[in-house]
Amino acid sequence: MDFWTFNTPSAITPITSHQICSAAAIAVPELPGAKILDMTVMQIRNYSTSTGEFWDASPLDIRGLDVCNVTVTYTHPGWDDTIHVETWLPLSGWNGRFQASSGGGWTTGFTQGLALRASQGYTVSVTDGGHAADSGADEWALNEDGSVNLHLLEDFASLALHELAVLGKAITHAFYGTPAAYSYWNGCSTGGRQGLMLAQRFPDDFDGIMAAAPAINWSMFVVAGYWPQLLMNQMGVYPELCEFDALREAAIQACDHLDGVRDRVLSAPGACDFDPLSVVGQPYDCNGILRTITKEAAILAQKIWTGPMQRDNNARRWYGLNLDASFWLLPRVACATEDRVKRCRGHPFEISEEWLRLFVINDQEFDLSTLSFDEFDALFDISKDKYDDMIGTANPNLSQFRAAGGKMITWHGTADEAIFANGTLDYYQEVLKHDPAAADFYRYFEVPGVAHCLQSISNAPFPQDVLASLIAWVEEGKAPETINAEWKDPFTHSTLMRRKLCQWPLVARYVGGDITQESSYSCDKHF
Ligand SMILES: *[C@@H]1O[C@H](CO)[C@@H](O)[C@H](O)[C@H]1NC(C)=O
Ligand SMILES: *[C@@H]1O[C@H](CO)[C@@H](O)[C@H](O)[C@H]1NC(C)=O
Ligand SMILES: *[C@@H]1O[C@H](CO)[C@@H](O)[C@H](O)[C@H]1NC(C)=O
Ligand SMILES: *[C@@H]1O[C@H](CO)[C@@H](O)[C@H](O)[C@H]1NC(C)=O
Ligand SMILES: *[C@@H]1O[C@H](CO)[C@@H](O)[C@H](O)[C@H]1NC(C)=O
Repeated sequence: MDFWTFNTPSAITPITSHQICSAAAIAVPELPGAKILDMTVMQIRNYSTSTGEFWDASPLDIRGLDVCNVTVTYTHPGWDDTIHVETWLPLSGWNGRFQASSGGGWTTGFTQGLALRASQGYTVSVTDGGHAADSGADEWALNEDGSVNLHLLEDFASLALHELAVLGKAITHAFYGTPAAYSYWNGCSTGGRQGLMLAQRFPDDFDGIMAAAPAINWSMFVVAGYWPQLLMNQMGVYPELCEFDALREAAIQACDHLDGVRDRVLSAPGACDFDPLSVVGQPYDCNGILRTITKEAAILAQKIWTGPMQRDNNARRWYGLNLDASFWLLPRVACATEDRVKRCRGHPFEISEEWLRLFVINDQEFDLSTLSFDEFDALFDISKDKYDDMIGTANPNLSQFRAAGGKMITWHGTADEAIFANGTLDYYQEVLKHDPAAADFYRYFEVPGVAHCLQSISNAPFPQDVLASLIAWVEEGKAPETINAEWKDPFTHSTLMRRKLCQWPLVARYVGGDITQESSYSCDKHF
């Protein structure tokens, strides 16, 4: 058997007859607490599109898709919101399963997921959560009077996700005349947080949840994402990415051997006590120009790796970036040349910037570059106090999800440059404290060296076929001991390296042989 070819799950309920894609044939679903404003039904024939990269799919050209498109528009009376849920039902080849198209960033659901999942045989629903999928938070966060639109935030954080499940499943049942045999959530980043929210608050909605690199503890980690910018503004130092890359490379070189294999992948970045001051003065190449690492950049990198500290007691507020994570996003710098003088300034990660300005400070015009350490500290508390209950998504009590028979898999790349993987580990450990046997239904896989959600930006073996593993667990009771991971050449797509990802707390330890083959590793105790 070829261990590495995971078959696409087979159809459970082949359905061929009695699907009529018309408004007359599909009953308008009921949605408690909401008022349905409209339902449109249209056939889409021979649909073609090109999808971008997903956490579980390379960019694809999808051709000749035939689906029934059922779109429901509804509101929560008194909330002044308008939410659209679009459901695509394959006209042939339905695999009997329902899948939600999850979101990312401020997007409640990716519409490209409709074509992708329908082409894989699923009925699939997406919700816009009451705001346009491609809109920044400026367009919806504040009411006319300047207060935060807590209703739209709640739609985004939780409620619209449950309602998507209710509507999507009802429409599936009405269209095929039989309910979906199983339903799945499959998401990364905001999509991962959404999966955890469903497990925590709506434990009956999905049989299986794949919640990767979850944006949990949102009210804290999003603020922590601004920490590198605060440091740069306070220090008046704005290193360019080349210099940060040189520091990161030096850290990787210094600690690559600790896991027994020199492959540029750090299996335990925390075990590395690299001191960036030790490489001050070392030369590096920046687009053909030779420069040397400065003391200021080294000090800055050290503070970014440490993470935000509380002012009064010097306790850690949140985690910092791991040593092998890229600096491209959170400590991002923009430079411009004027009168032959190059000037650089901070260019914050939009979500951190928008969250602070709109939701925490409540001032659309606020200039964050003037923030002091004390003000940042105060904002951290405000964010947590005001929003943790609504969007924190870190309740470790999953007893109802367990009782409902749900299964869940989380993976997180330890070189994630946007969401600190340590927050996810922290959550999983809390879940285990609550229920020492939680691995019966919820398993965590740490992924060394992998960046935020995407294979194309990761220089390490990337998780493969995780949804297939989840389906095997839900439908056949086969709990995943390991997850396959492959590092593919981004241009030739040939496989450079294969690994097994081990179920936490185990790690893949080198036992000898070809370092590019998974058989050269075994799952062993943590370092
Ligand atoms: C489907 O669309 C393609 C173009 O995308 C076209 O070449 C083909 O003829 C169409 N097939 C049918 C059956 O209409
Ligand atoms: C599906 O229907 C909705 C509502 O009519 C529409 O906005 C959307 O564009 C349709 N999708 C496609 C691909 O035609
Ligand atoms: C994440 O949020 C939960 C719930 O508020 C909290 O108990 C937990 O301590 C937070 N995690 C960290 C690392 O602070
Ligand atoms: C963060 O996670 C990494 C990867 O698992 C680990 O090596 C490190 O010790 C953790 N750091 C902290 C402060 O928990
Ligand atoms: C966990 O949640 C369940 C269901 O909501 C509740 O009955 C139980 O008391 C909770 N357990 C703890 C330790 O809080």
